[in-house]
Amino acid sequence: MTIGTALTPGATKALLMGSGELGKEVAISLQRYGVEVIAVDRYENAPAHQVAHRSYTIDMTDSDAVKDLIAKEKPHFIIPEIEAIATQALAEIEAEGLCTVVPNARAIQLTMNREGIRTLVAEQLMLPTSAYAFAVNFAELQAAVNGGIGYPCFIKPTMSSSGKGQSMVKTADQLQAAWDYAKSSGRVDTGKVIVEAKIDFDFEITLLTVRALDTSGVVQTYYCEPIGHVQENGDYRESWQPQVMTEAALKLSQEIAYKVTQEIGGLGLFGVELFIKGDKVWFSEVSPRPHDTGMVTMATQRQNEFELHARAILGLPVNTQLQQAGASAVILGGLDAKGVVYEGLALALADSDTEIRLFGKPEAYVYRRMGVALATANTTEEARQKALKAVSIVVVKAN
Ligand SMILES: Nc1ncnc2c1ncn2[C@@H]1O[C@H](COP(=O)(O)OP(=O)(O)OP(=O)(O)O)[C@@H](O)[C@H]1O
Ligand SMILES: [Mg+2]
Repeated sequence: MTIGTALTPGATKALLMGSGELGKEVAISLQRYGVEVIAVDRYENAPAHQVAHRSYTIDMTDSDAVKDLIAKEKPHFIIPEIEAIATQALAEIEAEGLCTVVPNARAIQLTMNREGIRTLVAEQLMLPTSAYAFAVNFAELQAAVNGGIGYPCFIKPTMSSSGKGQSMVKTADQLQAAWDYAKSSGRVDTGKVIVEAKIDFDFEITLLTVRALDTSGVVQTYYCEPIGHVQENGDYRESWQPQVMTEAALKLSQEIAYKVTQEIGGLGLFGVELFIKGDKVWFSEVSPRPHDTGMVTMATQRQNEFELHARAILGLPVNTQLQQAGASAVILGGLDAKGVVYEGLALALADSDTEIRLFGKPEAYVYRRMGVALATANTTEEARQKALKAVSIVVVKAN
């Protein structure tokens, strides 16, 4: 393909649906190839808004609002960064054949609802997952747990992300509270929850998997080195790359990632979440877009996950090689305030192998991700220590 000149009639235009910290990096990566970037989010001055050529603030779950904007901007690519989008509108736009939904509209529909992706992976592709069931009322949930899922188990709304509405239940007396929480906190009340048996894993990974054209124009699947991570309340706090694992587990992980992304199709980067125990691997979920735990690649790879996504989308060849071991650690708001200030950066950056990214979010919340510390070192352990140390030095304050 050819790439036009931004801000001229021949521009190659990409519209980002969702303008958070991951979208901001995708925007920058696309702009490095001269693409005209239009950033959309539900609130003003979101991170990607601050670097895009143009920005819009709309309700992205409103089909008409999404269609109107696309009719106005006529982008070549629509790049979803979040799950809460009017997916039906994307399907209609894709069907018109005027632009590419990345990686495709079906992928966005399948992965926004845990039922879609789980059923596809476990029942159609027959890949290993936790035991699971869906329930539309408390009695069904109880029956599923008593009928084989057992305790401990996870209860999640079928439409939610970042751990919202999700809880781990250890004993029968906690089940009702978990049901109530899942029902009240989903992004959209589909009326359904998923209950999953808890997998007793040694560690969990994100396997960044890229579907991109090779130099002959044929779609190939490429893998980054596995990324290990720590989650708290369903949100990531630390990640590192490479995560050491057995050769058998790595091979199986890549096979699972291959089958899932092959089934989904399209071009782009995917975050395949897997649970690992010894040589065993279970599929958990997949993001058809850069993954938050993959921010570590900003320090560890020649082409980070955002550039890989941009290059794959544009039909360009990719290089997923790791350059150096590294880690990322999240800088949380720690307070509820607008227009915060950040202190301690000079000290946090005193180590020359440490970097900080501040996302520029207009408002902080206690558990909102406001930035990330990145570090490289000879070992991931050392890199984790450095990243954590940097985070501990940065102070987020009310202005
Ligand atoms: N069946 C399970 N067994 C063991 N741990 C689990 C299971 N399900 C979820 N977890 C833990 O909870 C975390 C979040 O779960 P999951 O990825 O399904 O939620 P999410 O809301 O989609 O989160 P995110 O959007 O941040 O990926 C997992 O990374 C894992 O640590
Ligand atoms: Mg997840």
